[in-house]
Amino acid sequence: MNQTILITGAAKRVGKEMALSFFKKGWNIIIHYNNSIEDAQSLADEMNAQRKNSAFIIQANLDNAEDVLKLAETALSLSGRIDGLINNASTFYPTPMGSFSEEHWEALMGSNLKAPLFLTQFLCETLRKNKGFIINITDINVNKALTNHSIYLAAKSGLQTITQSLAKELAPDIRVNAIAPGAILEPPNVTWTKEQKDNIIKLIPMSRMGNEKDIADAAIYLSEAEYVTGQVLNVDGGKSL
Ligand SMILES: NC(=O)c1ccc[n+]([C@@H]2O[C@H](COP(=O)([O-])OP(=O)(O)OC[C@H]3O[C@@H](n4cnc5c(N)ncnc54)[C@H](OP(=O)(O)O)[C@@H]3O)[C@@H](O)[C@H]2O)c1
Repeated sequence: MNQTILITGAAKRVGKEMALSFFKKGWNIIIHYNNSIEDAQSLADEMNAQRKNSAFIIQANLDNAEDVLKLAETALSLSGRIDGLINNASTFYPTPMGSFSEEHWEALMGSNLKAPLFLTQFLCETLRKNKGFIINITDINVNKALTNHSIYLAAKSGLQTITQSLAKELAPDIRVNAIAPGAILEPPNVTWTKEQKDNIIKLIPMSRMGNEKDIADAAIYLSEAEYVTGQVLNVDGGKSL
């Protein structure tokens, strides 16, 4: 198989696990990163050691429109084809009323909403030609309120809406779905206390936090589910019920 998938924000955490899962299925992987160059390089080295020329890394700040175009162009020139795109990269932080500026708006909208849409446009032709798929990673909180996160949630809600609109627009050539994770990992640079974790777990019917593999398994499913498009798959242990 020489199918290639581009996964944004794939150097660490959920993105890395998805990259490893697709690699194990025989896919070639384009690992996009912004700051995590060492993690991206060591992940690519690990894959290339097992299968030569199976992984590439590309740096891009998705807040920057020129970088987004450069990411698409470089990905295509490195691999010659893209069959799958996972829009996973995300900026996440609270923006309580009275605290935010245009800069916060641009950053939260950039990686979570604008870049996924433009990346899709830039890669549409190759995805169409290869009968490919797109998976957008949203958030279970889109369907609920999340105090102090109005900009982040507006961006993820937009990403969910785009998923459904594009599924119709790009069918039957490209399938477009979303995964809405629940409580999977602590936000980067945040450590919850045991009490905080316990309080979250109490709200989850499956009685545990999710993990990276739960999301990666869902991504593999959506990549193979040939009659599924325009769906949002909640991977949240039942928390949203
Ligand atoms: N973790 C959870 O419990 C949870 C819950 C709900 C939804 N989600 C969603 O699931 C996905 C994966 O979650 P995660 O926790 O693994 O994500 P994460 O660690 O917060 O972010 C993934 C990557 O996004 C990249 N990124 C952030 N801003 C960027 C920018 N401006 N340009 C380019 N790259 C940028 C970073 O790359 P570098 O490190 O290379 O800079 C980062 O490693 C995200 O879409 C997230 O919103 C996660």
